[in-house]
Amino acid sequence: MDTKKVLQGYELIFNETAEKLFFSPGRINLIGEHTDYNGGNVFPCAISLGTYAAFGNRDDRTIKMYSANLPDSGIVSVSLDSLEYDKARDWANYLTGMIYLITKAGYKLDHGFNIYVNGNLPDGAGLSSSASIELLMGNILNDVFKLGINQLDLVKMGQQNENNYIGVNSGIMDEFAVGMGKKDQAILLDTNTMEYHYAPVELGNNVIVIMNTNKHRALADSKYNERRSQCEQALALLQTKLNIKSLGDLSIDDFDRNSYLINDDILIRRARHAVFENQRTLKAIKYLKENNLVEFGKLVNASHISLHYDYEVTGVELDTLVEAAWQQPGVLGARMVGAGFGGCAIAFVDKDQIDAFQTNVGKIYQNKIGYAADFYIAEIADGPSEIKISEVEK
Ligand code: GLA
Repeated sequence: MDTKKVLQGYELIFNETAEKLFFSPGRINLIGEHTDYNGGNVFPCAISLGTYAAFGNRDDRTIKMYSANLPDSGIVSVSLDSLEYDKARDWANYLTGMIYLITKAGYKLDHGFNIYVNGNLPDGAGLSSSASIELLMGNILNDVFKLGINQLDLVKMGQQNENNYIGVNSGIMDEFAVGMGKKDQAILLDTNTMEYHYAPVELGNNVIVIMNTNKHRALADSKYNERRSQCEQALALLQTKLNIKSLGDLSIDDFDRNSYLINDDILIRRARHAVFENQRTLKAIKYLKENNLVEFGKLVNASHISLHYDYEVTGVELDTLVEAAWQQPGVLGARMVGAGFGGCAIAFVDKDQIDAFQTNVGKIYQNKIGYAADFYIAEIADGPSEIKISEVEK
């Protein structure tokens, strides 16, 4: 993204020069899918695609928000004194929700501001554009109003925003990956204890290719909530005999010995995914640390298979991309990322094979699905930060 364009866009819309410029990343997840609301482990990282914002203070109590990605929505205005959810505000609710939660937590914002947002995350692609924009807002307020909120609390507010303000019952992974991102590191997070540690993503001659199905995640929210409640039902049945807090507490053996308690094919498969995926994630980080990329890749593939057969969240578009990726030379592994039902997949690909990879996978996808997929090389990036305007102008 040309950051000069973000500053120029602000100037054009608000008729003044911006005072500050910020960036917040998107995320991918290496492995550990649909485990974050099951008390399991996730292993995501922030990426260099994300959301930029130019910012200027105002003297009154008005907040004016504009998105270059949705120019038809125009400028959305709210007052600092009426920040409740309003459907008509559409995309701007992600920002307003964060402002609402921060003021509700007792932090004082004594004046309004103008904010111009421009992102290069493909829209609706499951790379967490919503967590990106939430953490962007949280970090801007923290910086400009010197609130002193720590990043982990901003991450939790981001999740609260999704769950209670926007109304999506998501886990903590997306906001955590965005807020806590570190360049070239993935983060192993145990969502049960919230303990986490960073692990360098050393892939030798391989890079991570993001493959976008260009299929919007239609119905994703309702199916997401359905999967979540199926896991809760399975857990409740296991708890009739077992003293566990979440599916993440179970080893594979524990699960095998006790799955009879669930006694329902669909619920057994949902729970099996959550339990096995959690264990796969722990193994994957071990292999990555030992630089055993072949075994790491096999777990990545197994994750996709489980998301396809047991969790049933892939769909023909993601399966076509991933299965085409598996057939290409120089591919360690490939799987869908995020909620599923469309959006993106990732593949670990030998640098020297990337062109052939994109051409071949692209062709197979186009032939089967009828429209093109997009490919991007993922760069693992830091969490939200200010970009000094003086640096941009150089
Ligand atoms: C979405 C949610 C996350 C997580 C993933 C699946 O991205 O926002 O909390 O549950 O799906 O792993």
